[in-house]
Amino acid sequence: MAHLTPPAVELQVYYARRAAEYEAIYDKPERQGDLARLRADLAEAFRGRSVLEIACGTGYWTPHLARHAVRVDAFDINEETLAIARTKAVDPARVRFALGDAFAPTIAVPPCDSAFAGFWWSHVARRDLPRFLAGLHRALAPGARIVFIDNRYVAGSSTPVARTDAHGDTWQARTLADGSRHEVLKNFPEPTELEAAVRPHAATVEVRLFDYYWRLEYTLARAPR
Ligand SMILES: C[S@@+](CC[C@H](N)C(=O)[O-])C[C@H]1O[C@@H](n2cnc3c(N)ncnc32)[C@H](O)[C@@H]1O
Repeated sequence: MAHLTPPAVELQVYYARRAAEYEAIYDKPERQGDLARLRADLAEAFRGRSVLEIACGTGYWTPHLARHAVRVDAFDINEETLAIARTKAVDPARVRFALGDAFAPTIAVPPCDSAFAGFWWSHVARRDLPRFLAGLHRALAPGARIVFIDNRYVAGSSTPVARTDAHGDTWQARTLADGSRHEVLKNFPEPTELEAAVRPHAATVEVRLFDYYWRLEYTLARAPR
């Protein structure tokens, strides 16, 4: 994707190299209760909906979104993660996986009436959030339901923050199984920041906190604001 900024290219490369080991993150014992609640919650949130899944990765969440959804259009920037996603037990008549950039989502015809992104918000630089959200909102039907889930920072469970840059974005030092080392942008926004980011576009907004995760749900205003 030619227009990605250098940090965005690094993020893409990091997740391509991490694809085979990615889902180990979902094995952390202390997080199992939260994860079970989120899986059940997401299946209900998208009942009867057409879902645009942004940065779907290895498709960990896709079968849960698809459980009662009419359609799921899932995309990611990496073929390496998509190759794993395509092995998930989903109905191929209702679920499609494709290559795509979260900053330029394809607009389906008719447009999806909902969207989901797991663990993507935290990787978007604060100054890029308005551009990302504008592109997402353009791709969806008026009144669409949008759900983001992501990590809270929990000392002892989260990878420590290595530094905060001049823009207020936080970075972690991560090492993959192949020994390669990566500096990864990972933000831990407060509920007030989440609400403030979407409020100008939203008819309703709700932030829920779990022990290890946050969940943001909002509905798009029916007329652009
Ligand atoms: C933390 S993983 C989340 C994967 C999945 N949503 C989940 O919750 O398990 C972040 C994902 O973003 C993808 N990604 C990175 N840059 C992207 C971009 N510009 N557009 C779409 N996906 C991107 C990576 O390939 C990776 O799969």
